[in-house]
Amino acid sequence: MTVSSRTQVGIVGAGPAGLLLSHLLALRGIDSIVVENRSRAYCEARQRAGLLEAGTTELLRTVGLGARMDAEGLEHGGIYLQFEGERHHLDFRDLTGGRWVTIYAQTEIVKDLIQARLAAGAAIEFEVSDTEVGALDTDQPVLRFTDSAGTRHEVTCDAIAGCDGFHGICRDSMPAGLVQVAERAYPYSWLGILATVPPSSDELVYSRHEKGFALLTMRTPQVSRLYLQVPADERIERWSDDRIWAELRHRLTVPGWELKDGPITEKAISPMRSFVASPMRYRRLFLAGDAAHIVPPTGAKGLNLALADVTALAKALTSLLSGGQAQAADAYSDTCLRRVWRATHFSWWMTSMLHVDPHADQFGATLQLSQLRYVTSSRAAATTLAENYTGYFALTWD
Ligand code: FAD
Ligand code: DHB
Repeated sequence: MTVSSRTQVGIVGAGPAGLLLSHLLALRGIDSIVVENRSRAYCEARQRAGLLEAGTTELLRTVGLGARMDAEGLEHGGIYLQFEGERHHLDFRDLTGGRWVTIYAQTEIVKDLIQARLAAGAAIEFEVSDTEVGALDTDQPVLRFTDSAGTRHEVTCDAIAGCDGFHGICRDSMPAGLVQVAERAYPYSWLGILATVPPSSDELVYSRHEKGFALLTMRTPQVSRLYLQVPADERIERWSDDRIWAELRHRLTVPGWELKDGPITEKAISPMRSFVASPMRYRRLFLAGDAAHIVPPTGAKGLNLALADVTALAKALTSLLSGGQAQAADAYSDTCLRRVWRATHFSWWMTSMLHVDPHADQFGATLQLSQLRYVTSSRAAATTLAENYTGYFALTWD
């Protein structure tokens, strides 16, 4: 038996994009359902991003999601760039006229969003299976799924948002031949750890070392997060905790500074990829976040882009569904792709400047160092990095 119902917006995926979209639509009086194939506990524990642009934190505050972030988030006014054994500071506040970034983990944003949505009585179905979207060539697309108790549902919607991440089903549900993909694979991966040890630095350290890139970041004053460049096909079993700390120490240490270590509570390897699918819309199916685009993590842009997409989408859907105005929905893909391509370039640039390319020759490696010297000695070059890192495009929600 299939249970039929209707809502205004069907949202596939309870990651940051899907959850924030549901929240923003509710603020405008628009009903939605969110379906998610994982459990609530899994979504709340999945370790990923940690760094928010200034505009992202301001948006979360404006829409009533800032309380815990303001109490627990760590504001940073700059970063360190390290190469040839020297550490250089970039002061974002000075370079950009006062802009900053905030460390507040994606896990915490997801927890805040789930709690806010459930407190407001929202429909979120966890642990669904066999999600499908259909009737996409009409103005009443349908969302089908089997709930955690085994009941099949068919929800008729006015619009569907594909917020189902890179491996979701929505992008591939668009008509064959419509979607163009621009893609770049990188010949390395990141090994990321969480460790119970106070961060060894007040701000993030991005290090280019001849053995490979390393990044020191953090989650709280008690928990550090660190990343190491490893070969693209690396297996985590080859990295004991001792080997990870030794390699991090080797790539991060500078004279007069020591890396503190501690128990590793989580370790995983993530591939690096740039990927942009366009257009991000077919009629009333809209893609947002990782469902439409992926950046390598070096620029810390993925989460920020996902939240920016759904801010644009919530505005577009409000005009379409409450005001009968299609202009913003028609412009949605182009609006998002301008920001996406800026972040795609910045993430590619940061990645290429800081990693050791196993195929590069002396020419390539020397160009990297020249670029790093330029960024750390020219105010114009440093400002380019700072204004992209803190967020180039404004993010507004009236
Ligand atoms: P996701 O978080 O992938 O959510 C999609 C959801 O859809 C998932 O919960 C999934 O289970 C669900 N789903 C999938 N298929 C289905 C289906 N068929 N039916 C129902 N549900 C489905 N970004 C930053 O901005 N800053 C950073 O510092 C940063 N660091 C990162 C570090 C690492 C190691 C990694 C891997 C990523 C990092 N990112 C960072 C990227 C960021 O985590 C992602 O861009 C972000 O999670 C995208 O959110 P999303 O909601 O679009 O997708
Ligand atoms: C984090 C991840 C990044 O890729 C980055 O550039 C900065 C911070 C993080 O996980 O905190």
